[in-house]
Amino acid sequence: MTSELLTDIGELTTLVEPRRHDAALVIDDGRIAWIGQAAAAPDCDRRTSVEGRAVLPGWIDSHTHLVFAGDRSAEFEARMAGQDYAAGGIATTVRATRAATDAELAGTLARLRAEAERGGTTFLETKTGYGLDVETERRSAEIARAGADVVTFLGAHLVPEALDGIGMRDYLDLVTGPMLTAVRPFVDFIDVFCEEGAFDPEQSREVLLAGRAAGLGLRVHGNQLGESGGVALAVELGAASVDHCGHLSGGDIDALADSSTVATVLPACDISTRQPFAPARALLDAGATLAIASNCNPGSSYTTSMQFCVATAVLQMGLGIEEAVRAATVGGAIALGRDEGPDAVGRLRVGGRADLQLLDAPSIAHLAYRPGVPLTIGTWVRGVRR
Ligand code: NIG
Repeated sequence: MTSELLTDIGELTTLVEPRRHDAALVIDDGRIAWIGQAAAAPDCDRRTSVEGRAVLPGWIDSHTHLVFAGDRSAEFEARMAGQDYAAGGIATTVRATRAATDAELAGTLARLRAEAERGGTTFLETKTGYGLDVETERRSAEIARAGADVVTFLGAHLVPEALDGIGMRDYLDLVTGPMLTAVRPFVDFIDVFCEEGAFDPEQSREVLLAGRAAGLGLRVHGNQLGESGGVALAVELGAASVDHCGHLSGGDIDALADSSTVATVLPACDISTRQPFAPARALLDAGATLAIASNCNPGSSYTTSMQFCVATAVLQMGLGIEEAVRAATVGGAIALGRDEGPDAVGRLRVGGRADLQLLDAPSIAHLAYRPGVPLTIGTWVRGVRR
């Protein structure tokens, strides 16, 4: 493999050291081989001048739901006309997903992943959760495994009572039994939608403990629509992350700050469901580890744009630009258990994976200073320019 020198970097954000100006970095064999001042850069096989633009790590999107079929724009339009967001809309997507072929589902995932990558995302988690029967969850998991970096089993997204006539007890037995067994070869984490209208904390605990017994990491959809108890449960069980966090008590914030559970906020979802913004500022001030993710899905947040999420976190949620960038990279990596080790992602470090993005702007401030303008003009994944 040829080595590549990226030079004339106006601002280099590594999230390991303070931002550098007039910087350069060397990519060799998929990894970063050298970081320093442009004037001191070593010779390489290829030299790319980025002419004063900004370079930073690629986004780590730690929460998406990309295995689905169908469209819910009518539901969105009704919501914008004043209807509340309700978890029940999930069933619409379940119907369409069950009816879709594997090729259709894989095609949608690939299309959205490519869109995310054009926006700077270089590492992405996705979930099952629109199958809710054994076979559709199994094939969703297999498709997700082929198309995403990290895969989460979300059989406990909703009880498909209206679709299948199944009650809570029988569905819990299915999710924690045959469904878990069927998806297990393809998934890394188990998740549960702990919310009124979905699963209460005790039902959620049962799901998570079954996943843990099967060797999976834990994640929770918690406190999206109310104080659901999801955050407390996630912290108690040492989950890798609890996502949404829109309705937190002071006790929830303190509990997260004292824990290793990442608080993942989903700004695009908060906007698209007209829910209050998650208290990202208070979480950071208390000392919690924060991640920002897109929550791309057809119901509550149909965007792959991590830049939109970062800009919103800065403009509406009170984060500083570097805080938001850190949450959308390092925070996501921690939430996915990928911040350390040889395959770590989320920061630019010598010896680490060369997963990075180039902005058509001189600094990361432009990510929020120029809201709505797609600034990423290049991504490198394992050192290969896309
Ligand atoms: O993370 N909250 C639960 N699940 C998704 C929404 C799914 C949907 O509305 O289709 C979420 O927002």
